[in-house]
Amino acid sequence: MTDQAPVEFWEQRYAGSPRVWSGRVNGTLAAVTDALAPGRAMDLGCGEGGDVLWLAARGWHATGVDLSPTAVQRARTAADARGLSDRTRFIAADLSSYTDGDEYDLVTASFLQSPVELPRELILRTATGFVSPGGSILVVGHAAAPPWAPTDHVHDMVFPTPEGDLAALQLDDARWRTLVVEVRERTATSPDGAHTVLHDSVVLAQRVD
Ligand SMILES: C[S@@+](CC[C@H](N)C(=O)[O-])C[C@H]1O[C@@H](n2cnc3c(N)ncnc32)[C@H](O)[C@@H]1O
Repeated sequence: MTDQAPVEFWEQRYAGSPRVWSGRVNGTLAAVTDALAPGRAMDLGCGEGGDVLWLAARGWHATGVDLSPTAVQRARTAADARGLSDRTRFIAADLSSYTDGDEYDLVTASFLQSPVELPRELILRTATGFVSPGGSILVVGHAAAPPWAPTDHVHDMVFPTPEGDLAALQLDDARWRTLVVEVRERTATSPDGAHTVLHDSVVLAQRVD
């Protein structure tokens, strides 16, 4: 892991390319949340907003938070272009110290992973406090590196397990029901067009009180 400041690393990553991610929703998030009734959602580390925009298009009022102002601005621009500004809110902030007076029916974290410092467990644990009674938290992570990931990145990355992420949430069993703790396979296309299978760590829990 380099000791570059996280905000610098991610800002350079986004500013260095006109678009970093596909703009499409993450397939695992779409599959897991499809059956949920729309309400208020928050996405942790939203990047360029693909998941937030998908949720908003399905009727959610969705907030995305990300460290990179460039990513957040791109997400806002995409929301404007798709007529989703009134259902979306994007905030540039460091989630390790972020607080929010609101409560959400769904809190999501898709691939909140980083080759530079990221207090992921602290962020996930804190985010359980953003979930409203009856609401859910969904944590999706790369359980292994994609075959095309640069070797130096893979070396630096920690890959979550569902059991590890569930433990990180530190849920009180009396107040939370764990619904999914598993590794899911999904098909993907590599940047050079090859079909491959990727593994996502998935945790879904619902606050019951
Ligand atoms: C691997 S990307 C995933 C982006 C998006 N969720 C997706 O699935 O396309 C990780 C994201 O986490 C953000 N991030 C990293 N550390 C963060 C922090 N401390 N606070 C907020 N966002 C952070 C990065 O800027 C980056 O956009």
